[in-house]
Amino acid sequence: MKRGIAILGSTGSVGTQALDVIDHLPDRFRVVALAAGRQVERLAQQACRHRPALLSVADRDAAAALQGILRAEAGDYRPEITWGEEGLLRAATHPESHLVLTSVVGAMGVEPTLAAIEAGKDIALANKETLVAAGELVMTAARSRGVNLIPVDSEHSAIFQSLSGADPGWVRRILLTASGGPFRGRKDLSGVTREEALRHPRWVMGAKITIDSATLMNKALEMIEAHWLFGVPMEKIEVIVHPESILHSAVEFCDGNVIAQLGPTDMRLPIQYALCYPERSPGFVEPLDLFAVGSLTFERPDEETFPSLSYARRAVTMGGTMPAVLNAANEVAVERFLAGEIPFTGIFQVVSGVMDRHDVVQRPDLAAIIAADRWARAVARKQVVRA
Ligand SMILES: NC(=O)c1ccc[n+]([C@@H]2O[C@H](COP(=O)([O-])OP(=O)(O)OC[C@H]3O[C@@H](n4cnc5c(N)ncnc54)[C@H](OP(=O)(O)O)[C@@H]3O)[C@@H](O)[C@H]2O)c1
Repeated sequence: MKRGIAILGSTGSVGTQALDVIDHLPDRFRVVALAAGRQVERLAQQACRHRPALLSVADRDAAAALQGILRAEAGDYRPEITWGEEGLLRAATHPESHLVLTSVVGAMGVEPTLAAIEAGKDIALANKETLVAAGELVMTAARSRGVNLIPVDSEHSAIFQSLSGADPGWVRRILLTASGGPFRGRKDLSGVTREEALRHPRWVMGAKITIDSATLMNKALEMIEAHWLFGVPMEKIEVIVHPESILHSAVEFCDGNVIAQLGPTDMRLPIQYALCYPERSPGFVEPLDLFAVGSLTFERPDEETFPSLSYARRAVTMGGTMPAVLNAANEVAVERFLAGEIPFTGIFQVVSGVMDRHDVVQRPDLAAIIAADRWARAVARKQVVRA
């Protein structure tokens, strides 16, 4: 039987690559729902190709525009079109889906991911911000509903494959690799432009994660994601800069064995693994040529110039709502940097400034997480930044 798939964020970098994977494995998958924001032309093209029963977009205007395009171009295909938070929830819980790929960006993924888990769907999780903001709630819900949470992030896919169900107690260290971003080796980050920060040396991704990679905040968020996904304390998660991005992460076990996963720098590989899990299917990505790669190098991260990793450790140590606040403050700081409102180094100032002012709520429920997220966004928008 074909596996029914819903994609939240189908028009983005992960979403379009997931549809590419599905195009190559037409006998395995059936797309039942697609949700996107405002790229209605692209969504219409995807919808005409895959003919899902339900489409969702950011708001009523985008829904009307999508409706217009489909009326003109889609012949007898008449999907249901919804919008907003309600539409995203409908896509996340579509009755015909077995698996939901969460590839929206930011904490907007929390509620649809929880709804999908409650509806008993397996989750292919790209949206790391969901686990950062609400890790305990999401993991508890997934355990109690007995659903699989399969990571899409290449590093977490590598760790997942290296662990292959091992007892977390056997893990001595998780070696989380990082490309180092465009400013690796640079000590002075003043004057960094938007264009420089958006030029990632290895991966082509959405704007937010690309800026997060440049500040190392992406690795900070990934440390928290790994902490929740694999039940490993933060002090056992070590970040290693590996500029070639070939070894996607590794696990060192208590007996000293280190198991790593290697592969080409192509997100379609971990996406395919997550969609097919627990099976594997023949791949279509150009295989890894280790002779061409030649050598692999590893360095320690520069935590003085890039303080993001220390923010992640602090957020998890303080616990409760603090990781959600770290995440929300960072989302606003990245938006402000991309809008030309604050300098690159202002991102660090906004995040640490907002964390300094937060009164942590311990063992938060969803309402407390949403309230902390809103509070952090409001404070981050006003946070004054030194030039
Ligand atoms: N890109 C990567 O290689 C990569 C790798 C690992 C993990 N991730 C993680 O995967 C997630 C997605 O990253 P990305 O790079 O694919 O981001 P992206 O390219 O910016 O795509 C974001 C997606 O979210 C959609 N969206 C925005 N507002 C929406 C709304 N209100 N309702 C529904 N959908 C909405 C966008 O739709 P429109 O474009 O139509 O507005 C787009 O489809 C992030 O959490 C990121 O950290 C990404």
